[in-house]
Amino acid sequence: MKNGLEDVIAAETQLSDVDGEAGRLIIRGISLDHLAGSSTYEDVAALLLDGLIEPHLDASELRRRLGQARMEVFAEVKTADTRLLKLPPVDAMRALVARLPDGEDIDTVLRLLAAPAVFLPAVLRLQRGEKPVKPNLGLSQSTDILRMLSGAVPSAEQTAALDTYLVTISDHGLNASTFASRVIASTRAGLTSSVLAAISALKGPLHGGAPGPVLDMLDGIGSEANADPWLRSALDRGERLMGFGHRVYRVRDPRADALKNALKPLVAAGQVNAARIALAEAVEQAALAVLRERKPDRSLDVNVEFYTALLLESLGFSREAFTGVFAIGRTVGWIAHAREQALEGRLIRPRSVYVGPLPEAA
Ligand code: ACO
Repeated sequence: MKNGLEDVIAAETQLSDVDGEAGRLIIRGISLDHLAGSSTYEDVAALLLDGLIEPHLDASELRRRLGQARMEVFAEVKTADTRLLKLPPVDAMRALVARLPDGEDIDTVLRLLAAPAVFLPAVLRLQRGEKPVKPNLGLSQSTDILRMLSGAVPSAEQTAALDTYLVTISDHGLNASTFASRVIASTRAGLTSSVLAAISALKGPLHGGAPGPVLDMLDGIGSEANADPWLRSALDRGERLMGFGHRVYRVRDPRADALKNALKPLVAAGQVNAARIALAEAVEQAALAVLRERKPDRSLDVNVEFYTALLLESLGFSREAFTGVFAIGRTVGWIAHAREQALEGRLIRPRSVYVGPLPEAA
């Protein structure tokens, strides 16, 4: 038995393939290298969902219907309980998603794709003491998310960077949150239930909760000269370096480069803190050297969370919001997997080995 189920095949999927040895991610037959930077969120959402909800889903039609869905779910924000606002943003967002009706149809799907995109910016604004910004149904999902967050229409570079982020993290094989989504789908509970379970799995620090701590680490390090001693003493204390290591990748996570590239136009346009990026690059190099020395039998490299942290910070998200933004992008993957499971799979019901005491013989 394997404690973390590694190498156990628990599903057949046509959605994505993670090649941990080659460092390659394929989404519905297309390499991430081709998708990231040239596709919008709607392009990849349509690609992932095609044939799973309706016979054919067109990206421009999806964009139009998503705009309407954002307007529809915004009604929930107006009735948000003030107690929700004391919760971490991802928990408040999850609580609002939990109010949506369950179902398997296209309207449920559109609501679920729109809901995190509307709820997270609204929660963040309310927590800052600002009024939520109403969605604009004519905009793309990425443009509208940034507009609902800041109140201003974002630059073309900012929209493109968020699109690249949402595309890059849209699906990733049978990770913990996607597995949770499929388990729920196998019981036929409905897509809202699947998404709620997946958000709950995602928020853990070993899964989607890592990028906030990446920035804590950069703040703690402070300067390029301090990187090596700081990283060594963190490892001496038995800590893990956030943004490094992966269960499947034995080489560099391809998503890290997609996100690093997405930062370049923002740097060129002077829309990010260039000193922050330079510090991150120095920390990355120092961490790789220290990890190679300290863990020579594990190939630990940078993972998606490292450059996620820098990208999302550059787009104006606070670090507490990062897991929620991850959920905005991954919801389409969770839904696609849940549909695949419901259409083709059986109830997921593995077995455990009992190692406790046996009753005394009578
Ligand atoms: N820093 C230091 N050491 C590490 C790290 C790290 N980031 N990652 C793994 N290791 C070490 C472990 O301490 C362990 O060493 P040991 O055998 O001497 O005890 C060895 O590598 C194996 O660790 P496991 O936990 O068995 O490896 P696993 O494959 O389960 O780890 C994980 C994957 C959880 C992502 C891990 O690398 C980690 O904790 N990274 C930091 C958190 C992080 O960045 N999470 C985001 C992951 S990406 C995502 O989910 C979207």
